Amino acid sequence: MTTPKAPFDVQKIRKDFPVLNQTVNKQPLVYLDTTATSQKPYSVIESVSNYYINDNANVHRGIHSLAARSTKKYENSRQKIADFIGAGSSRNIIFTRGTTEAINLVATSFGSTFTAEDEIIVSLMEHHSNFVPWQLLSERTGCKLKFIQITENGELDMNQFDLLLTEKTKLVAVVHISNVLGTVNPIEEIVAKSHNVGAKVLIDGAQSVPHVKVDVQKIDCDFFAFSAHKMMGPTGIGALYAKEELLKAMPPYHGGGEMIHTVTKEGTTWADIPYKFEAGTPNIAGVIGWGVAIDYINQIGIDKIHDYSDMLTRYAIEKLSTIDGLTIYGNAKNRGAAVSFNLKDVHPHDVSHFLDQKGIAVRAGHHCAQPLMTELKVDATNRASFYIYNTFEEVDKLVEALKEVKAFFTF
Ligand SMILES: Cc1ncc(COP(=O)(O)O)c(C=O)c1O
Repeated sequence: MTTPKAPFDVQKIRKDFPVLNQTVNKQPLVYLDTTATSQKPYSVIESVSNYYINDNANVHRGIHSLAARSTKKYENSRQKIADFIGAGSSRNIIFTRGTTEAINLVATSFGSTFTAEDEIIVSLMEHHSNFVPWQLLSERTGCKLKFIQITENGELDMNQFDLLLTEKTKLVAVVHISNVLGTVNPIEEIVAKSHNVGAKVLIDGAQSVPHVKVDVQKIDCDFFAFSAHKMMGPTGIGALYAKEELLKAMPPYHGGGEMIHTVTKEGTTWADIPYKFEAGTPNIAGVIGWGVAIDYINQIGIDKIHDYSDMLTRYAIEKLSTIDGLTIYGNAKNRGAAVSFNLKDVHPHDVSHFLDQKGIAVRAGHHCAQPLMTELKVDATNRASFYIYNTFEEVDKLVEALKEVKAFFTF
């Protein structure tokens, strides 16, 4: 296979990522674990330290200049994030610790009115963060959980989904791009069908926002959850997008400072959205760093990022497929930049350990998707994932190292 041409200067981009400039086990680092967390460019790292060096002050509270400066930068980031996903207004963006907390917010707040009569549909390819909160809600309220099955190709079984939807369905919660199979799900179709029966839809966008152009208003989803650290921003910060009428109707998630309008002995009234859902001092540096990560993505262009990740993924799949005894999980037509695989008779942890000796970082385990592992009839897989700073040579290194693993474990 001829090596495709990248739509940007990858070597120049790599220089923006200090962590890549190191050896691991005396080999140049090959970082193929972006699906777990992405690396950060200098501009993001510097924005976080600059905040603490120059601006550090609490937001929305003080009158003094530092507080005003911090608040301005913080709210500018909220606007950038809103613009990036086509939210319409920054009022629709609630800051959380990440995708996981955003989904828990919905389960606790929106789910507070659910009863034993209600049903929630999730798929069997969900990350635990879009699975366990609904199980907890089901335990609290008695509402019923129903599951979308997965086809042989690793796609959602949309015929079976049609059969699950009823007028009892209160919520459908599905992942946009699977962190294991790479499958891109037909979320616009899911939203339209769910709305037809009066159900709301939550999309887990942790793996999609870093890779594809997302327009939440076009998708017409009711909730959309995503994390900064998957898209070159800091860890510990993420957001929930939700439609305004839902946010206005939903009760607060946490109580405390910032989320109130008035507090008296008799009771409390809530601040306007989004602040009603943001109790306590937030991760200010994280939010500011996230805004800079979005600047970085915008500078390159999300479409180019998508195209390049796609080239690397297709190149990897083609090369990996030449290894005898290697199984790739998921063969969806429309797919993202994660490739899960196993080598026959070699435990994924052994594969990953061997690769680490060569400086190659891949993920091994259940990827926080145990129901999916059960469907695939495996305990664990290896997963290589790709982003703008990876190269075709790194994919070649992975493939060569896997051939060595195979030889090493063949008696
Ligand atoms: C598809 C998907 N959903 C949710 C999450 C959870 O994200 P976070 O740990 O940032 O809350 C992840 C993280 O790997 C993910 O890949």
